Amino acid sequence: MKVLFASSEIFPYAKSGGLADVAAALPLALSKDIDICSIMPLYGFMDKKKLTKTDIILEINLGGINYTADVYKTKDAKVLTYFIDAPLLSTTKNLYGDSEAYANNDIRFGIFSKAISLLAKLLHVELVHLNDWHCALSAFWLKDSNIKTVFTIHNLAYQGIFKRDSLDRLGINQSHFEMQDLEFYGKCNFMKAGIKYSDRVTTVSPNYAKEILTPKFGCGLEGFLSFHKNKLSGIINGIDTEVFNPKSDDLIFQNYDVNSLNLKIKNKKELYKNLKFKNAKTPLFVMISRLVEQKGFDLILESIDDLLKKELNLIFLVDGVSNYKKTFEDIAKKSDNFEFLFGYDEKLSHLLYASGNFLLMPSKFEPCGLNQLIAMRYGTIPIVHNIGGLKDTVHTDLKKCGQGIVFTKQTKKAFILAINRALKLKNEKNIQIFDMNCDFSFSNSAKKYLKLYKEIP
Ligand code: GLC
Repeated sequence: MKVLFASSEIFPYAKSGGLADVAAALPLALSKDIDICSIMPLYGFMDKKKLTKTDIILEINLGGINYTADVYKTKDAKVLTYFIDAPLLSTTKNLYGDSEAYANNDIRFGIFSKAISLLAKLLHVELVHLNDWHCALSAFWLKDSNIKTVFTIHNLAYQGIFKRDSLDRLGINQSHFEMQDLEFYGKCNFMKAGIKYSDRVTTVSPNYAKEILTPKFGCGLEGFLSFHKNKLSGIINGIDTEVFNPKSDDLIFQNYDVNSLNLKIKNKKELYKNLKFKNAKTPLFVMISRLVEQKGFDLILESIDDLLKKELNLIFLVDGVSNYKKTFEDIAKKSDNFEFLFGYDEKLSHLLYASGNFLLMPSKFEPCGLNQLIAMRYGTIPIVHNIGGLKDTVHTDLKKCGQGIVFTKQTKKAFILAINRALKLKNEKNIQIFDMNCDFSFSNSAKKYLKLYKEIP
């Protein structure tokens, strides 16, 4: 079986969040069983010299305008990846926007989606696996071909919603502007194309697949998703356990494994050399995240005074344009047990996973979440809100992988109680060992995707 895996971001080429990690790890896991290659945009900030230019030229026609795209590919990566170099799509400094989303993202990702469908035909693939709204229109453009499509929702909060006249500029007939199609409250919605026109729709955890059928988590699409629920399922994400392996990770200071857990603290001591914290014995709580409402920062703001009165150290490593930034910076300036580190830093994030005692994940909603999986792999105990993929991956007993501290209500009281439970833990080491022995790799889930690919008639 030949598959083309499409994503707007793939680690290490471009990353804004967990999507990039999954778009790297899942095709790699699948490549053991099938012939799979990937496709993503070639953004303006990427170095073309590291890639090889192919002789493929794609004539992308949208609404009467031609956007000719060059196609690059990786030199020697484990998964062959194609990069689309096209006007508008490839001229930007960032992936999706600077302080605001780029106004022409409809055309940019329209170009990308059209490129996916053209390349899929050119490469004679049997199936295209599309991820999130940036690729969703491909399902629409492939609907009359014999190529099968799977659409995965990584986060329903981002749907690609644009004004009605986008359809004209994309060359999509206005007859599709209706409720059971691309229309959404007077605008057009790219995500709906992925849901309606794909053969199968998946999301990144079984629990989130159920949640999105309800008004609380459905982001306005609960009715539409319920209509299509026979083709909807949830498959839990995994992580690349080679990249995230405390035993061999060269981004951390001191390697360790389950048999040498006592060495973990050396990472914390190294980390503290550049921070205001002194005592490595004080429990360290880390939060590694995008600074967006989804991740539970309102709850943190409400609770942070109480939190910082406790005998603990707290570090945030966060990024993204956000109103929360200044507030947290001011709090950090005034407290001696809170460090606020801003900016995307892959290396530092690994050191934090290796240094922490606990990872905070009080998300309001969480399609899957990868940080809790990475944390457990590094023997850092997650403290999570019991929703989405967090509910599927973090448990409170030693029966199911993995184990952590779970709170059910997103209230200050429940959150602080969870922190207290963490501080009073007696069997911290047992939990760490249990979690480090769990298998969070993509291999089980890759098998489920494979089964899904194969069952499409
Ligand atoms: C998005 C979701 C996150 C998920 C990731 C990868 O970033 O918010 O929960 O783990 O995509 O699927």
